[in-house]
Amino acid sequence: MSRTQSPGATHGAHAPGKVGEVMMAVAMSVGRGAAARALAEIAGLTAEDRLVDVGCGPGAAVREAARRGAAATGIDPSAVSLALARRIAARANQGSGSVLFRQGRAEALPLPDASATVVWSLSSVHHWQNPAAGFAEIYRVLAPGGRLVIAERLVRPGGRGPAAHGLSRDRADEFARELAAIGFAGAGTRLTRVRRSTMILIEARRPVSPDPDQP
Ligand SMILES: C[S@@+](CC[C@H](N)C(=O)[O-])C[C@H]1O[C@@H](n2cnc3c(N)ncnc32)[C@H](O)[C@@H]1O
Repeated sequence: MSRTQSPGATHGAHAPGKVGEVMMAVAMSVGRGAAARALAEIAGLTAEDRLVDVGCGPGAAVREAARRGAAATGIDPSAVSLALARRIAARANQGSGSVLFRQGRAEALPLPDASATVVWSLSSVHHWQNPAAGFAEIYRVLAPGGRLVIAERLVRPGGRGPAAHGLSRDRADEFARELAAIGFAGAGTRLTRVRRSTMILIEARRPVSPDPDQP
């Protein structure tokens, strides 16, 4: 699928509304460097990679990928976040990589089949309206052998307000099972520390061969 239409603002599990969208974009424009660097390390990102960041917000992790030499594309439904992302990227040192931002949602990625070697998503999947559709889209967009890393703040089940902004261990395990059912190989979860936060990671890869016995 290749869509370029404007999908509008967020309507996912934690739809913020227009004011919330602006507040989230501003909040996510500072202090994201450590998480972005951790993500790049976890994904084993190299200058050979074509990286897609789903739910990139103002783009800290996209810029980190470009600094490491990758061709990096950030996708987000929020026009506010994308405007900020483009402004910051225009002033930032991007090393030898490249940066592109496109409006879109996880559930309908505006990207060609098999066009990415790495897809990651930081603090975004808990906002998606339809995570299963997002996972299917990521599978489509990943080249065979491509890696997926989803990173979220670990939260307790049933939290409300700010305490709901993340994933519980059970929810993350459920997502890993959904990824395996779609055909991802090696789908699993684990915890990691980023500064004082505990993050939950969901990692998987698109198999080189669609045969589940030949990962
Ligand atoms: C908490 S912010 C995280 C931004 C960035 N990844 C970071 O960590 O700095 C969540 C982002 O997910 C985006 N988002 C919401 N629903 C989405 C969807 N269905 N598909 C992709 N991104 C979505 C929001 O617009 C927002 O920019």
